[in-house]
Amino acid sequence: MVSPALIADAFDLEAIEKAAQIIRGGGLVAFPTETVYGLGADVENPLAVARIFEVKARPKIDPVIVHVADAASASKYGIFSELASRLTSRFWPGALSLVVTKTSSVPSIVTAGLDTVAIRVPSHAAALALIRASGCGIAAPSANLFGYVSPTTAQHVAEQLGDKIDLILDGGACTIGVESTILSLADTIPLVLRAGGVAVEALESVIGDLNVSIETAARPVVPGQMKRHYATRTRLVISEQEVEELNPGERAGLLSLLPPEHPERYAAVEVLSTSGNLNEAAAKFFGALRRLDLLSLDRIIARPMPERGLGLALMDRLRRCSASE
Ligand code: TXA
Ligand code: MG
Repeated sequence: MVSPALIADAFDLEAIEKAAQIIRGGGLVAFPTETVYGLGADVENPLAVARIFEVKARPKIDPVIVHVADAASASKYGIFSELASRLTSRFWPGALSLVVTKTSSVPSIVTAGLDTVAIRVPSHAAALALIRASGCGIAAPSANLFGYVSPTTAQHVAEQLGDKIDLILDGGACTIGVESTILSLADTIPLVLRAGGVAVEALESVIGDLNVSIETAARPVVPGQMKRHYATRTRLVISEQEVEELNPGERAGLLSLLPPEHPERYAAVEVLSTSGNLNEAAAKFFGALRRLDLLSLDRIIARPMPERGLGLALMDRLRRCSASE
């Protein structure tokens, strides 16, 4: 059982002040953002950041995103080109992490030794209040055990990390529901390293056609962009087959954008949006996966989603969830 004192209301100013004290003192606070819950530490405190890796069982080769309150504070940690500034003025605060050259204020544990850093300004009011009250950038990965589905409620965080961290700020369910889009400006050509909460189409309206990173044996995979990730314990397959997909006696769960024709075939069904709205689907996505994962099913069957808007991020997560080790 998680002690009730561990969870505090993210919209209570005293709770924010307490959380900021923990951050300043080198502790760990889970906090809501518009994408997913983050597990935060003072970015300039390498020991505190090391604890994030320990608590999440996260490999040290996987760099962490730095959260700041505004573009001006971002320049303490990263070097922003004219293009980067155009993107930040359009998409910050919001679900876009930019990978740029880092400054010496970022300890190497944050970037896993890379000379670049991922930075974003979240739009969630409690996240911004926490960053401002802490007076430092906050290094924060998603607040889940490494490799598992990201948390979109305080309860999700408590279930996995409740006994290992100092405080959880509860700001309700995340409105976007998938992680930020990661755009690298580290090379001459901008590259989307992770599809996420800002649609690639929206980025393209500012910078023109974009390449989206795909793993190939020839190209080193970005640390953290592991093939199997965002994964349920229950095996998940992506399938379009309506018929003959179930084995005899199999208890399968279905994850689908739209209501299925034959819900009775499945032990459980999660519909993400009856109107097929991909934003609504994203907001429900990780919660639905967690619910299915708790049912001890033989298999989770996911229907493919249209790969536009946030659907691109959802399909990316489903593919990683379904990948073998
Ligand atoms: O929405 C989000 O981005 C959430 C919230 C909490 O802000 N955070 C999040 O962090 O999803 P995390 O740690 O789960 O994913 C961070 C990923 C890393 O796995 C890595 O792929 C990429 O960001 N990343 C971070 N720094 C990078 C860098 N310097 N170069 C390339 N990729 C980087
Ligand atoms: Mg994560």
